[in-house]
Amino acid sequence: MLPRLTPVTAWAAVCALVVTLASSGRAEDYHLPPIGSPAHGEALIAEKGCGGCHMIPGILGADGLVGPPLTMMGRRVFVAGLLRNTQQNLAAWVLDPQRIVPGVAMPSTNLTPAEALDVAAYLETIR
Ligand code: HEC
Repeated sequence: MLPRLTPVTAWAAVCALVVTLASSGRAEDYHLPPIGSPAHGEALIAEKGCGGCHMIPGILGADGLVGPPLTMMGRRVFVAGLLRNTQQNLAAWVLDPQRIVPGVAMPSTNLTPAEALDVAAYLETIR
């Protein structure tokens, strides 16, 4: 015989299902809301001249071809073919690419870590 479905047991069943579904995926399948300010990141990207080397969607005049186009950055699996694409890794790259790949053509920037997180927050919105 099936147990009677009271509102409380129905609610418990829904919660159990949600927990099961949530734990069946891997953590990196979920895109958490970005920390920092994408709007400030967008302004910094324009100000720092990243567009001289990169084509960057949403940034006026950013049509450089020295580095790869930063299209769909929010959907990429890797940053620079090397780091898992998380906001923190993207910020670490933007802050100091020379520390990650010594001699790479992208110069280290003079952003603060908080500014690099803002820049990464903007790049992650490019989907
Ligand atoms: C002098 C040219 C130059 C400038 C200026 C520059 N970059 Fe780059 N950037 C590169 C090159 C070259 C690469 C490719 C490095 C690699 O993949 O090994 C790169 C890679 C990247 C990547 C990884 C792209 C990918 O496809 O995974 C990101 C993100 C990035 N740059 C963001 C920025 C941002 C943001 C700025 C401004 C703060 C900036 N870059 C300024 C040349 C530049």
